[in-house]
Amino acid sequence: MGYAHEYATAIMHRGRIPMEPADFVPDWADRPRKAKYYPGANSFPLPDAPYPADATVTAGLLADDMPSAGRFSLPLLSGMLLDSYGLTGRRLGVQANTDLGALPHYTQANWSRGTASGGGLYPVSIYWVSGPSGPLTPGVHYYSPPRHAMQRLLAGNVSGEVAAALGSYGAATDQFLVLGVKYWQNAFKYNSFSFHAVSMDVGALLQTWRVWARARGLRVAPALWFDEAELARLLGLGEDEEGLFAVVPLLWDGTEAEITSAGAPGAAVRRRDQERSRTVLDFETLRRIHRATAESATDRPGPEALRPSAPAPPATATDPFALPPAEFPDVSVRTALRSRRSSFGRFDATVPVTATQLATTLAACAGTRLGSDAEPAGTPRQARLYAFVNHVDGVTPGAYAYEPDTHTLHLVAPGAPGSFLQRNYFLSNYNLEQAGAVIVPTLRTTAVLDAVGDRGYRLVNATVGAIAQSFYTAAAALGLGAGVALGFDNISYIEELGLADSGEAPLLIMLLGNERPCPADFRSEIV
Ligand SMILES: Cc1cc2nc3c(=O)[nH]c(=O)nc-3n(C[C@H](O)[C@H](O)[C@H](O)COP(=O)(O)O)c2cc1C
Repeated sequence: MGYAHEYATAIMHRGRIPMEPADFVPDWADRPRKAKYYPGANSFPLPDAPYPADATVTAGLLADDMPSAGRFSLPLLSGMLLDSYGLTGRRLGVQANTDLGALPHYTQANWSRGTASGGGLYPVSIYWVSGPSGPLTPGVHYYSPPRHAMQRLLAGNVSGEVAAALGSYGAATDQFLVLGVKYWQNAFKYNSFSFHAVSMDVGALLQTWRVWARARGLRVAPALWFDEAELARLLGLGEDEEGLFAVVPLLWDGTEAEITSAGAPGAAVRRRDQERSRTVLDFETLRRIHRATAESATDRPGPEALRPSAPAPPATATDPFALPPAEFPDVSVRTALRSRRSSFGRFDATVPVTATQLATTLAACAGTRLGSDAEPAGTPRQARLYAFVNHVDGVTPGAYAYEPDTHTLHLVAPGAPGSFLQRNYFLSNYNLEQAGAVIVPTLRTTAVLDAVGDRGYRLVNATVGAIAQSFYTAAAALGLGAGVALGFDNISYIEELGLADSGEAPLLIMLLGNERPCPADFRSEIV
């Protein structure tokens, strides 16, 4: 059994047995930047990219018959990056987080993005490795979110190295997005817990891309298993400093004849990013879980590997509750992403959530797939959703399992769940009882690790992150408030939902509801 099992157990129990270093206090004055800084690198501004109104949230989140053979171009890549990780506005609304007082200060400004991120730290680095079929001189570029620009790190065609690192995965292309996580960007605050959060961040970003692209007939299918050590060498990354979590091959708008994936053995990025923090700390647990999940990075699971780790259908004695059909208003993916935000304490249950709103959100979350190299068509879903219903029109309060194939709720624990939810939440920024419903994604983490090895931890958490991003996008399209949180006692949820035998691990809580009318806010859009 690898270290990931131990890490998963420590994460589950951390509400009762704090993880080391338990008395850690972040040095906020010496915090890192929210993006990598490459002084002196040439920047290429990305073009404007319109987004059609008919690329709707329904197409991105609910339709499973969308064509996906479209090809990326520079405007499409630019639009997808802007709508996912680019800065789109400034957060100035009054909410219940402890950082509220800092928000009006420009140096501590919080910028909004289409994708959610644990702690709002946005630690994912996006590299674009492009060969000759792309529009720029072939090379390696870093996407700089504050500039919405590509910064050249290396000139020359190294796309063949990425293709080789992927093994036989993906269609023939010479364009790749590589997703890394510079751990310090998150670990300065969350230390040992960091890996758990950042691996979800990767999934959240991938899911924004998948929804955005699917609504436009494009395909985003990440590889999570690849030669990570070789790509880290190519990108000039120090060992343990940055993990590489995903590679997304992009079908590019050009002729296949142009694809020349000639190898460039030994080529590597020499430019180094400049760290802002004077002191960068090393956390042993983080190093160990990074190494454990990086160790067998090329052992891609076989096509049937994830069959045994799928959850069994719910077995409940009572009659299931049939939900109304899922239905989104006619909202484009870009519009939903631009209005997405966390509610942070603004829930107000005076107006209940409708059964259709809950049903639509559940269907969108349950339909979420990473589409990774470990999940070929026909792989059973690995996640199961539970819903704690506080205030939903026509649905009796209680805890339910959601069954997506029949679109029904199965009662697990009767009674209003408000006091359970609030008792088991660690922070003070939400009153969970005022949410209409709290949706909880679970995965059989241990079974996944047994099936595919330690790297499966990244798959589990990316799946949860992807569900979180579907959740936010769905809520925004429905005009509802939303918030997701890791700060809850996982063990109490296992007990309340009776999950000890099935091994399902409740990994996130996702709050859905109406907000107080007319909250104090200041509109500050920058795109
Ligand atoms: C994996 C993940 C974990 C999160 N955990 C929490 C949490 O424990 N508590 C909380 O209030 N928000 C949590 N959030 C929400 C983020 O704080 C939020 O997305 C970020 O601050 C950006 O703010 P925005 O969503 O309003 O754009 C989480 C988000 C993600 C993606």
